[in-house]
Amino acid sequence: MSRFQASDGITLAYRIQGRQEGDPLLLLHGFPLSSALWDRVLAPLAAYGPVVTPDLRGFGASDAPAGPYTMERLADDLVELLDTLGIERAWVAGHSMGGYVALALAEKHAHRVAGLGLLHSHPYADTPEQRARRYALGGSIYSDRAVFDETTPRNQIGDPDGRPDLVAAARALVRQAHGRAIVAASVGMALRPDRSAVWRSFAGPTLHVSGSADGIIPPARAAQVQAERPHGLHVELATGHLGMLEDPPALVTALLQWWRPGTHG
Ligand code: MLT
Repeated sequence: MSRFQASDGITLAYRIQGRQEGDPLLLLHGFPLSSALWDRVLAPLAAYGPVVTPDLRGFGASDAPAGPYTMERLADDLVELLDTLGIERAWVAGHSMGGYVALALAEKHAHRVAGLGLLHSHPYADTPEQRARRYALGGSIYSDRAVFDETTPRNQIGDPDGRPDLVAAARALVRQAHGRAIVAASVGMALRPDRSAVWRSFAGPTLHVSGSADGIIPPARAAQVQAERPHGLHVELATGHLGMLEDPPALVTALLQWWRPGTHG
């Protein structure tokens, strides 16, 4: 794990692996996980070019300062990471919350994003009910942490009873999350605007990955995301919300259909 200091003084962690030539792939984990989410897909992807997997502010080995962690702040952290690494442009694929960050990055710093990938994610703002649930989590996360740690991974895996090993793998990641980061990122997600125009108008290649058994981004919602971008690449996996854990080879294949490490300009 490598580290750098962000402009507000906190330390952020990341890994970079793979061949050194070509436009890197930047993979952004979802909530409330860490870069370890990508462990099952990293090696096959790194054979094709550089792969950068940060721990977003608050998660994994990164510091967890006070929030909220807006999607814009998380995107700015990534620009600082790219600057630190001397990377001009990256292919940016975000899982769920990581997709919200990828969209903020594409909106604020379009010239740094060669390609845009939404993995089990979407460009829409929260409904009032979702926003209320996120704010309520701030009140319950410390008293009901065990419930959160149990229900979150079960909701993420498509077949939780059939794949207790995957539930356990996701639970191990969820348990590592700092309570402060869970609240700060939840509030950050509640504050995010609709970015469907960013998704529709992005100038480069796009990838949208959905899961046929995803209860968090259900197929009807995924179809809406797809309809906004009919000429982009869409891949439906036979998984729940965590394709990178539930079917790593299928996710690798999808990413390799989109990512062009050798493409410049
Ligand atoms: C995630 O997996 O990152 C979250 O479920 C996204 C969300 O809560 O909207």
